[in-house]
Amino acid sequence: MKIVSVIGARPQFIKAAAVSRVLRERHTEILVHTGQHYDDNMSAVFFEELAIPEPDVNLGIGSGPQGTQTGAMLQAVEGILLREKPDWTLVYGDTNSTLAGALAAAKLNIPVAHVEAGLRSFNRKMPEEINRVLTDRLSSLLLCPSRTAVDNLAREGIRAGVLEVGDVMADALAFAVEQATGRSSVLERMNLKPGGYLLATIHRAGNTDDLARLTRLLSALDTLAEGEPVIFPVHPRTRRAMAALPPPRSAALRCIEPVGYLDMVMLEKSARLILTDSGGVQKEAYWLGVPCLTLREETEWVETVAADWNRVVGTSPETIVSEARSFTPPAERPALYGEGRAAGHCVRALETYEAGGGGGHAG
Ligand code: UD1
Ligand code: UDP
Repeated sequence: MKIVSVIGARPQFIKAAAVSRVLRERHTEILVHTGQHYDDNMSAVFFEELAIPEPDVNLGIGSGPQGTQTGAMLQAVEGILLREKPDWTLVYGDTNSTLAGALAAAKLNIPVAHVEAGLRSFNRKMPEEINRVLTDRLSSLLLCPSRTAVDNLAREGIRAGVLEVGDVMADALAFAVEQATGRSSVLERMNLKPGGYLLATIHRAGNTDDLARLTRLLSALDTLAEGEPVIFPVHPRTRRAMAALPPPRSAALRCIEPVGYLDMVMLEKSARLILTDSGGVQKEAYWLGVPCLTLREETEWVETVAADWNRVVGTSPETIVSEARSFTPPAERPALYGEGRAAGHCVRALETYEAGGGGGHAG
């Protein structure tokens, strides 16, 4: 089979790393990077560290308002698909690159496979939720990380081609943990002791574009930093928004550049607690056995909350500080989102569908 994979943002490089490795054992993959993320520490570092093949095409679209960015990608991806005529287009997650890839393919009657299908926050104010709903509607093969995702799709009347395959981020994380041990010296470089610091990430549009919310979140991190160091790799979107705000009070709130995946995994693994609005980081915290506070009003990863390893705490500084100081998760941590073999399930699902099985059970 010939597959065009469309990726463009940091979490997609990580997800594609896991799937590409398996896909290329038996099939031809044309890797298209939309250029949505382009700084070296948001893009190139992941290709190097995770041994992702060089993109065959980099569309170089870059940043822009939602419609402008998505529209430019749609036009450019269409050109690639017309030239390559693939059997499938493979898209990941919920970014503008995901929707552009899916829409371009669907309009050309090229079947779309969506990795991380069925996730819902039920909050249409998020650009990601719009991308998810539309991409799922356009996809022939919907590769879900959880039973909840399958059920979400069923509620929208989408049943054909839906499979629970687990989460390809678990595969990527297992690979990175193995690589990071020995290769990442971030704890030594930053003089951090395992269990002796907090790790924070913030990048959601809802938290960064609303300066009142961002101020509350930074104030919570500042207060927490009075007690223990807070390591805060700052997403470029957040860096830009923070430029309009006063600098942090505490030097122990360490605002650093985004880090590569191997350093990130080491920082996550040894943190006492993680505070984040990232989807990927919530799951990684769970798999690594680190308690997590989600700095949003809702999460798509509801199983981590049900297991009481993740708490959705919003943006009130008082709540965040008090939860960060007192949250102790239970001893049990049930296995979630597959056993780290989702990439193989995804590729087999494509093969089964292609052979006429319509996507039969992969898991
Ligand atoms: C995007 C995704 C989001 C995902 C996140 C992963 C959409 C709608 N959002 O959000 O779902 O969680 O990626 O990180 O697709 N910028 C740079 N350098 C870069 C990339 C971005 O400076 O390499 C800055 C630009 O000012 C840009 C801003 O960050 O305007 C936002 O980038 P964009 O890709 O539009 O959205 P993200 O917030 O990164
Ligand atoms: N990540 C990273 N370096 C950082 C911050 C995040 O490698 O400085 C990784 C993180 O471990 C996770 C992925 O990037 O695997 C999540 O990306 P992000 O939070 O940007 O997007 P989301 O998952 O929310 O879509």
